[in-house]
Amino acid sequence: MTADRAALLDSFRRTFGRPAQLVAEAPGRVNLIGEHTDYNEGHVLPLAIDRTVAVAAARREGGVRACALDCGEEDAFPPDGVTPAPGGGWRNYVRGVAWALGEAGYRLRGLDLAFSGDVPAGAGLASSAALEVALAAAFAAVAELSLGRRELALLAQRAENGFVGVQCGIMDQLAAVFGQKGHALLIDCRSLEVEPLPLALERSRAAIVIVDSAVRRSLGDSAYNERRRECVEAAAALGVTAIRDVTTEALEARRADLPETLYRRARHVVTEEARVAAAVAALHHGDLDALGRLLYQSHESLRDDFEVSCPETDLLVELATGVDGVLGARLTGAGFGGCTVNLVREEALEAFQRQVVDAYRERTGLPARMHPVSAAGGLRVSGV
Ligand code: GLA
Repeated sequence: MTADRAALLDSFRRTFGRPAQLVAEAPGRVNLIGEHTDYNEGHVLPLAIDRTVAVAAARREGGVRACALDCGEEDAFPPDGVTPAPGGGWRNYVRGVAWALGEAGYRLRGLDLAFSGDVPAGAGLASSAALEVALAAAFAAVAELSLGRRELALLAQRAENGFVGVQCGIMDQLAAVFGQKGHALLIDCRSLEVEPLPLALERSRAAIVIVDSAVRRSLGDSAYNERRRECVEAAAALGVTAIRDVTTEALEARRADLPETLYRRARHVVTEEARVAAAVAALHHGDLDALGRLLYQSHESLRDDFEVSCPETDLLVELATGVDGVLGARLTGAGFGGCTVNLVREEALEAFQRQVVDAYRERTGLPARMHPVSAAGGLRVSGV
């Protein structure tokens, strides 16, 4: 595990005065391509990363006691009739998962849990999905519920949608559950089928690099929900269940009937779907140049049509285009700040640090950071 298991177990014992029974650990993700397509029932191509959130838990009589070790805060609530925590924050992820399990008809048991992680929060790397998936698995294991892996992902999403109030799609939770070492995951967000695709980047001497712009989503969640609403409106205006079902020709034919904003939102989704298919073909042929070009195109579409970029992530992508050996770059995740994902030849990594990360820091005064990542495995639950 990437989070320190011994330290986690030790902290659990110090917090609750007894040993943990099990550890559930789930990764963050970076999305290679297929942005804002998941809630349009389209395709996405994320990979789970080697950064995780780990939850240690043990059954107890009575309610739930939770401790967020990284900030030293605690919470306690009864497992039935869960209500939102005043002040929100991490507590609502824990309560939300308990609520979602209850809503789905499962009987929870009391438990103690403590968690810790190294997925940067608010950076577009799905730290909340990692936490919710690990929590769902821990709650289920302690209560001896036998839940399928897809069901765990759906419960984690339900917590986010119905309790936390972010109308996210299913990409992050499925990536956290099904991540596979060395593989990206092609996910069909309508059928929820997950197909692992080998990345074989070492063979091509290339790396996936995340750069954190250090801009945190502020209005992000409300703007995210607004994009989702716009997509629902566009689909209704186009007479389809989801934008996934619209072809470029059909969209162009109906252009005059759609308000300009809805047309551009739909155009992003339609063209992004085509880019995911092209990216899968490029991976299949080991054509990283083609894959890189698709990343750049995706960024332009997110910036101009979907309007979820910001000057800082635009700057990171622009700086990346000027470096020899950078094959592609784009913002990753919901947008409104957060991270870019970059496809970089190994020999260009030093130049990348100087010409992108250092240059960005100088221009903006923001403490950008670069994280090379590798594709990692998904959810793991182990006894202690
Ligand atoms: C967030 C959401 C996902 C997805 C992305 C955008 O990460 O949680 O469901 O919609 O944004 O692709």
